[in-house]
Amino acid sequence: MTVDVPAEPATTAPFLPWNRPSIGPEEEAEVMDTLRSGWLTHGPKAARFEEAVRDALGVQDAFAVSSCTAAVHLALLAAGIGPGDEVITPSLTFCAVPNTVVQCGARPVFADVDPVTFNLDPAAAEAAITPRTKAIAVMHYAGQPCDMAAFRKLSDDHGLLLIEDAAHALHAWRDGARAGSVGDLAVFSFYANKVITTGEGGMLAGRGDLVRQARLLGRHGIDSSAWRRHGERHTADYEVTVPGLKSVMPDITAAVGIRQWEKLADFTAARARIAAAYDRSLAGLPGMRLPTVLNRVRHGWFLYPVLIEPASGRSRDTVAEALRDVHGIGTSVHFTPVHRLAAYRELECRLPVTEEVAARQLSLPCYPAMTAADVQRIIDAMHTIWA
Ligand SMILES: Cc1ncc(COP(=O)(O)O)c(C=O)c1O
Repeated sequence: MTVDVPAEPATTAPFLPWNRPSIGPEEEAEVMDTLRSGWLTHGPKAARFEEAVRDALGVQDAFAVSSCTAAVHLALLAAGIGPGDEVITPSLTFCAVPNTVVQCGARPVFADVDPVTFNLDPAAAEAAITPRTKAIAVMHYAGQPCDMAAFRKLSDDHGLLLIEDAAHALHAWRDGARAGSVGDLAVFSFYANKVITTGEGGMLAGRGDLVRQARLLGRHGIDSSAWRRHGERHTADYEVTVPGLKSVMPDITAAVGIRQWEKLADFTAARARIAAAYDRSLAGLPGMRLPTVLNRVRHGWFLYPVLIEPASGRSRDTVAEALRDVHGIGTSVHFTPVHRLAAYRELECRLPVTEEVAARQLSLPCYPAMTAADVQRIIDAMHTIWA
C-alpha cells in the first residue's frame, strides 16, 4: 500500500498571498476626515471620485457605486435590456456580467476568446450576433485592452450597445485609447483584490444619457440625491419616478477611492516592473507560456497570467499546489469559464480556446505591495519546480 506523504514545506517564510492591498496614511486620513465630516453616504467625496474618473477617461459622466457588478446591472437596466434580449460576452471572465444579464431577464451568449490575449475575439462575437442581440460586453483580460476599434465598428454596424468590463484595466491603453473610454459604457471594480481598492466598490462611466438613467435607478428611482435633499437643501421631499435599486457608493468608501486613484499610475508602474522581472526570469522554462503584450498596448498588469503547456510535463494544478504547499506562495486562476459553472451548464457552448486556456492558466502574484525579495522568491520557486 502506498501512503500519500504531504510535501515537506521548503520554506519557513510567511505565506505570500496572491494579492494584498496597498493602503497608506493618505487613505486613513481621508476616511477619518469623512467620518468626522458628518456626511457618510454618497455625497461630495463620491462626486470627487466620479469627477476624477470621468475626467481621466474623457467621457461624459461617471457614477460611483457599491460594486462593479452593480455597475453592470445598472448599465443593462439603463439601456433597457430585458426579456428576449441577448448579450454577447466571453465565458473566460468573472460571473458578474452573465449573472446581471440573467437578472435582467435577458440571455448571455458566450463567444470564444483570442488565443494570444484571451480577450473576446471580434470575429467570434460577430458570428454570435442574432436579431435578438442588444449588446456586446467585452472584458479586458488581465489589463490588456480588447480590440476596441473592431468592437466599436461591430457595435455601430449592428446598432448594439458596447459595454467595457474594465475591472482589470483601470490604467491601460490600446492604439492610444484608454480602456473604458471607447464603449457606450464602462464598468470598473474596486473590489479588495483589484488594481486599486475601496474594499467593495465600482464605477459606471460613459454616455451621459445612460449614466444619468443609471444614477436614477441606483438611488431607488428617486429624483434627487440624498446630498441634495439633506446635505445641501435640508428638504425631505422626493418622488420615485421609476422603481430602482440601491447601489450608491458611500463617501466613507469614496474617501479611500479618491486616494487610491491618485496612486493608480504608480501602482501600475510597480506591477509592470514585476511583470518585466517575470518575463526576464521565467522565459527559459520549458512549456511555460508567458503573457504576450501586443504592439501599441500599455498593459495594466492586473494579472500576470501564464499558461502551463503540455511541454512542461506538469499540470497547472500541480504547479499551483507546489507553489502553495512547498513554497508558501499563493496563486489564482482566471477563470473557471462561466459556462462550466453550475448555474450555466445547460447553455449550449462550443468554446475551444476558452477551454484550452482555462485548463492551463495560472495567475502569479503581481501587486505593488510585493517586495523585490517576494518577486525573487517566486522566480526561485518556479525554477525549483522546473528543475
Ligand atoms: C472581470 C470582472 N468583472 C467584474 C467583476 C466584479 O467586480 P465586483 O466584485 O466589484 O462586483 C470582477 C471581480 O472580480 C471581475 O474580475
